[in-house]
Amino acid sequence: MSPSFSTSKLKAMHQLTLENAKNLTHYVLLDMEKKGEVDMKDMFGRFTMDNIASCAFGVNCNSFTDPNSTFATNAAKLFNTERAVIMRFLKGLALPECIMSRLPDPLVESSQFFADVVTRTIRSRDNSTHSAPDFLQLLMDTKDKEGNRVLSTSSIISQSVLFLFVGYDTTASLLTFAGYCLATHPEVQERVQEEVDEAVSRHGDLTYTALQEMSYLDRVMSETLRLYPPATRLERESTKEYTLPGTDVRLPIGTVVQISVLSIHRDPEYYPDPLQFDPDRFLPEAKERRHPCAYLPFGSGPRNCLAMRFALFEAKVALAELMRQMTLKPTACTPSPPMPLDKMAFLLTPAGRKMPLIAVPRSSAE
Ligand code: HEM
Repeated sequence: MSPSFSTSKLKAMHQLTLENAKNLTHYVLLDMEKKGEVDMKDMFGRFTMDNIASCAFGVNCNSFTDPNSTFATNAAKLFNTERAVIMRFLKGLALPECIMSRLPDPLVESSQFFADVVTRTIRSRDNSTHSAPDFLQLLMDTKDKEGNRVLSTSSIISQSVLFLFVGYDTTASLLTFAGYCLATHPEVQERVQEEVDEAVSRHGDLTYTALQEMSYLDRVMSETLRLYPPATRLERESTKEYTLPGTDVRLPIGTVVQISVLSIHRDPEYYPDPLQFDPDRFLPEAKERRHPCAYLPFGSGPRNCLAMRFALFEAKVALAELMRQMTLKPTACTPSPPMPLDKMAFLLTPAGRKMPLIAVPRSSAE
């Protein structure tokens, strides 16, 4: 699966993602005009929903114009369901009626909805010469040596729903906290804007190559993921007996080990003055000095995030486009850094589950 996110594939998805980012910018400014502040958490959620819908399902979700779109409504049913049930559901998609019949009703409905969307799109693409620059096409085009499709339709449906499920709120969380960090660190935001402006004027537009040149934006994203990692813990199960080096702690086979990513990322041993937002912690020489496992926003090893390159790419497109058009500022109620967190949420979420900020159009700000 990982070749799906090669440079050439990401370049192919650039246009779709950029269109969704332009939509995001447009609706942020519109909302700002109407309300005087914008819930950026909600806006980024709509952007990632639209982008996954277009990149993984080949459909236009339009969640900015139609918050009750069938796609978004069915996705909401997934997100409102307990995680353990979802994981069974994702496995169950490829399985028979006896499993489907044990699922709660809303999940059966949404599973049917996503299965229909994917099946219809596969059928219509099979019957035409039309090929699209999205994940769905990549999954369809995975062929064996004889040129036969490797993945069955039900596997393609499971993969697409898995992408939606794990890819939607993780990237939205990264963007939400990045927006907060920029708004509360105007000097960092100004530097990002300068970098974006220069790259865009060199390349004429926010092209894929322009994006690759934005090394400061890259550091801002890395530092946001350090201070606010969307997945706060990782889990592994021991497959053989193991004694932790330098201790007499013995892990029998089958022990589930939880790794607190948030604690590692905020440990002063690795990151002095850890609550301070400082993108220069990710300068190449600073990165080299740290243990590789001191930074785990996408996990580590063979089960790490499958779509890390795609996630960083779509988040950068969104932020760069936003920074081209506007300056984010805190409202009177925005807490000073570090942002307080919701203790009950599964993924890292700001306390209050909203991120109201002020968006000032750049033309009027300068
Ligand atoms: C900023 C955004 C994201 C973050 C922080 C993130 C983080 C993670 C983490 C921590 C894991 C578990 C890794 C481990 O246990 O070592 C994971 C797994 C995974 N992620 Fe992401 N992710 C993000 C976006 C995405 C997106 C956009 C997609 C799909 C389009 C995606 C697809 C997956 C998949 C399929 C897995 C499971 C891999 C496996 O079990 O083999 N992720 N992600």
